[in-house]
Amino acid sequence: MQSSDLARVATIFRTAFNEMYRRRGFGPVVADQAVGAVIAETYRSLDPAHCLVVVAGDRVVGSGFLHVRGRTAGAGPITIDPAHQSSGYGLALMREICARADAAGVRSLRLIQDAFNEVSFCLYGRVGFVARETLVRGSFRSRPDVGTRGATRRATSADVASIVALERDAIGIERAKDHELLLRMGDTLLAGDRPLRGSLVRMVRGGVAVLGPAVSRDLDTMLDLVQAATRDLPMRTDTRLLLPASRPDLLGAMYDAGFEVHSLCTYMVRGEFTPFDGYYVPTLFPESG
Ligand SMILES: CC(C)(COP(=O)(O)OP(=O)(O)OC[C@H]1O[C@@H](n2cnc3c(N)ncnc32)[C@H](O)[C@@H]1OP(=O)(O)O)[C@@H](O)C(=O)NCCC(=O)NCCS
Repeated sequence: MQSSDLARVATIFRTAFNEMYRRRGFGPVVADQAVGAVIAETYRSLDPAHCLVVVAGDRVVGSGFLHVRGRTAGAGPITIDPAHQSSGYGLALMREICARADAAGVRSLRLIQDAFNEVSFCLYGRVGFVARETLVRGSFRSRPDVGTRGATRRATSADVASIVALERDAIGIERAKDHELLLRMGDTLLAGDRPLRGSLVRMVRGGVAVLGPAVSRDLDTMLDLVQAATRDLPMRTDTRLLLPASRPDLLGAMYDAGFEVHSLCTYMVRGEFTPFDGYYVPTLFPESG
């Protein structure tokens, strides 16, 4: 992918996702044309060698991203122009991404897909991905008036090594450069000290808060972090996150806080996978796992 491809990549990103949602009866998921370009540009700065476009003749018809982080990697987003879908381009792109991951020594390649998207589910299965977790995608309204729970603090770049160690132990991913990026783009909150018990990233854009990635060793720590990340937001801010379906205690606590489910996603892994230890809230940005 070259910088001259970004406008086309952004258009395909928006139309492919909106069309995929429309076909299944949902409203558009990508409202802003700029989103795809911002994501592509950010990933080009993190992983320039693994930002790919699909070319048919002299026309860009799709794009995909691989995020190698040592023995693990993430893949996505993957989009093919709706006018060129069902022609084998998506499969060819995923085969290329898997080949690059294998060549880089990746043992565990991970991605998140919308569970209602039967096309992408089959496509990923055909190149070796296995569904390992169901994620519950939803939102709740922030409430600044709830009492304070356990202590948390804001992370600085001096904390990145501890966050990386926590994620390595809990979810098997080591990704310092993603956490450095997230510190620049959002707020990272921490709970506990030596050992760190949890971390949570919050990004607020256009009046919407997105929580994650977040990792904690126990339920109370995750709830402390969620509450600390929302109590300074304006009342009733739309706050979005992905919750692991395998943690009914976390889901139950979030339902009590007003969490509404919008749809389900599947966490898929190609290669090695050890179930997560503790509580993990993954994100679609960055898609490094
Ligand atoms: C997902 C996406 C990238 C696939 O791209 P594509 O170029 O259309 O995919 P391909 O043509 O290579 O492969 C699709 C395959 O799925 C198969 N397929 C589709 N629906 C299927 C079903 N219900 N059951 C089984 N197989 C199915 C097709 O038959 C095709 O296989 P074939 O070539 O052997 O016939 C594209 O649809 C897209 O951009 N979607 C919107 C964005 C998106 O959802 N991205 C994935 C995010 S996780």
